[in-house]
Order: sequence, then C-alpha cells, then structure tokens
Amino acid sequence: MCSLSAKPTIIAVDGPAASGKGTLARRLAEKFDYAYLDTGALYRAVGVAVLNAGGDPQDDADALAAAQALQLEALNEADTQATLRTAEAGIAASHVAAKPQVRACILQAQRDFALHPPAGKTGAILDGRDIGTIVCPTAAHKLFVTASAEVRAERRFLELRRDNDQLTIDEVLRDIKDRDARDANRDTAPMKQAGDAHLLDTSDLSIEEAVEAALAYIAR
Ligand code: C5P
Repeated sequence: MCSLSAKPTIIAVDGPAASGKGTLARRLAEKFDYAYLDTGALYRAVGVAVLNAGGDPQDDADALAAAQALQLEALNEADTQATLRTAEAGIAASHVAAKPQVRACILQAQRDFALHPPAGKTGAILDGRDIGTIVCPTAAHKLFVTASAEVRAERRFLELRRDNDQLTIDEVLRDIKDRDARDANRDTAPMKQAGDAHLLDTSDLSIEEAVEAALAYIAR
C-alpha cells in the first residue's frame, strides 16, 4: 500500500546577530521535536573555509569556490562548531553572504532540509536572515526576532569573552552594527522582516519569556 507523507511544518526564524533567534529556534525545535538548521553556520563555514585557504572573503571567486565545496555533514563536529562561533567567522560570513552566487549555491540545501527534514521529523525550524522572505516564503509560522544593538552586543560580548579576554564591548558593538548594515543593505536577500512575520523584541525578555511569546504566536 502506498502512503503519502504529510508536508512538514516549517517555522522560519529571522533576525539580526545575537538577537536570541538561535537559542529560541533550538528551544522551539526541542519543544515540537522538529529538525533544526542554523543557516548562519553555512555562511560562517564558507567564510572560514576561505580564510583557511588563505583567500579573501570579499573576493567573488574565493567565496564561490568555498561555497561549492561546502559539506553540510561536517558542520556538526564540535571543533568545527567552535571555529564557526568566532567574531572573525561572523565577519567573513557576512562578506561571503552578500554574494548572489554564494547564496544561490546554498539555497537549495536549505530548501531540501525544510521540505525533507532529516530523521523522519515532521517539521523543520530554520534560522537566518532570509528564511521567511526567500528560502521558505510559505512557512507556516514566521518570527522576526530582534533586540537593541546594545543588548545584542552585551550578549555577544559575554559569549566571546570566554575565549578572548582582550575583547571590549565597544569592539563587539561596532562589529554588530557593521554586520547589521551589511546584512540589511546588500542587494541580494537582505535581512528584513517578512510582511507576514511576527516581530519579537527580546531586549527585555529572558529566554523563557521569549519562548513563551513565540509559542503564543504559533498557537494563534
Ligand atoms: O546568524 P549568524 O550570525 O551566525 O550569521 C552569520 C552571517 O551569515 C550573518 O551576519 C549574515 O551575513 C549571514 N547569513 C545570511 N543569511 C542567512 C543566515 C546568515 O546572510 N540566512
């Protein structure tokens, strides 16, 4: 007998750096038992691969070669995860991510993940900058998670300072503002709230409160 599997439920979570979208998306994925994809990690991996090869993330050919060689499976390794979370990886990511050829190369892998979530999961949660607008415009639920630049810098500073005691909060704030500007003003798939996305400002919310607010939106 032939059985048709139901279409997976897709939840798109977009927003700027350190807005809390990654933590929120992971919590929602646990709660619903959905598959989770951190799409920023894909761009970070491309940026880091360019740097490791001695290339320039702002160079079209270097960025495209790294995107074409990207192996999704390798991203889950612990060493790779640690390398991807550095400030340099974030900056390199935002340079390669501005290139239309790089985005085109990564687009299908993200859609495949959403439409065919691994391990037989019945839904997928993707977080990034363009999930609700470009990658999965028909997602069942869309959240745009934000917070003031100062609050985001404080959060990122606490995270990055563990590995770099020379780091200052001013540097982190500058990096966040530069990255916001690059991500929001690029021509291809700029970071923006989809017209039908729910805006969630986490500036004054704990993680638990943000999760509650997201669940209330999804239940509506
Ligand atoms: O989310 P995260 O800070 O890890 O993303 C790193 C960079 O990757 C972002 O600053 C952005 O330039 C890029 N990115 C993107 N589109 C996505 C996810 C991330 O352009 N869907």
